[in-house]
Amino acid sequence: MTTDIRVPAVLKIGAGAFHEAAGVLSSLKCARPLVVTDAFLAGSGLAGKLRDQIVSSGLHCEVFAGVVADPTTEAVDQGVRAFSEGGHDSLVSLGGGSSIDTAKAIGLLVANGGRISDYKVPKPIPVTGPPHVAIPTTAGTGSEVSRFTVISDSATEEKMLIAGGALVPSAAVVDYELTISMPKRLTADTGTDSLTHAIESYVSRKANAFSDVFALSAMKTIWAELPIAYHQPDNRAAREAMMLAATLAGIAFSNASVALVHGMSRPIGFFFHVPHGLSNAMLLPAVTRYSAEAAPARYADCARAMGIAAPDDSNDTAVNMLIEGLFRRNEELEVPSPRRFGIAESRYFEVIPTMAKQALASGSPQNNPRVPSAEEIEQLYRELW
Ligand SMILES: [Fe+2]
Repeated sequence: MTTDIRVPAVLKIGAGAFHEAAGVLSSLKCARPLVVTDAFLAGSGLAGKLRDQIVSSGLHCEVFAGVVADPTTEAVDQGVRAFSEGGHDSLVSLGGGSSIDTAKAIGLLVANGGRISDYKVPKPIPVTGPPHVAIPTTAGTGSEVSRFTVISDSATEEKMLIAGGALVPSAAVVDYELTISMPKRLTADTGTDSLTHAIESYVSRKANAFSDVFALSAMKTIWAELPIAYHQPDNRAAREAMMLAATLAGIAFSNASVALVHGMSRPIGFFFHVPHGLSNAMLLPAVTRYSAEAAPARYADCARAMGIAAPDDSNDTAVNMLIEGLFRRNEELEVPSPRRFGIAESRYFEVIPTMAKQALASGSPQNNPRVPSAEEIEQLYRELW
């Protein structure tokens, strides 16, 4: 069996990479890029700096600042209009996963027509869109290197997963200096999202020798550096390490898959607007405890790579230390339970059967080492409360 590996053709990594974005666009023969970003980054001046950089290199550039959290088909449609009306030939996404996912969806529709729902997994994407340069400002969702986008249908409110090699950005500009001002909560949540990508891609049924290398390297770094970046936001070494690790974890899960944590996390995000990384964090220790018996050697590898267990610890010991370590880490990063997050108890328990159905329908739980029934997922949601 062969593995189909996809990564961006260009990766610019390191301090100051942001200032090379215009050069990357030129190297891709782009003449009229559309910057896709959110209102916050447009207001902060960062999007303006990017536009100025691109314009002063001789290219025509406009900014579309209509990205919303949990990107919607409505926002994507507005972006498609901005792209067509401006006669653009390329996309530059600037922001967290929402900006990058929105740009991917704009490129998809520009090249293929139709609606986003026409391309829901497992439907194929026939035509690759215009060049797309992704510039993440969080460390991070890994979307700058991944073949996935998640878009919510504005009409039905369904969160749709779209996947395909065509969605991998042409280039990723990964500059940790953009993350130095990230607030504490965002640092913890996006960092735990990355850790979840690394662990889930390593234990996934779709793991492979290529993705394993990136997953193990990413989890080792994130385990050591995330608390430092959380407690010392100005620690440049920790920020730099986290930014690279988030991209490595993105390469890992894009070329393997995510699993049960992500499957159960999306419905919590959808129903209760819990940020993606935070709902992952709520789930990661309990789902690891549930899943470990089906792949003890893989989870033990994670514990050893992360330095939680010693190289000569038995698999059982290492797995137990991993589970304990994940629960402890959540305390350190002040991850609330759904109850402490402020979710209404009656509503939470009311939607558990629906959340379990949606989790299973996403396909991610089927990549888990231990594949759960709907009843088991419901039980895990109840335990989480
Ligand atoms: Fe994620």
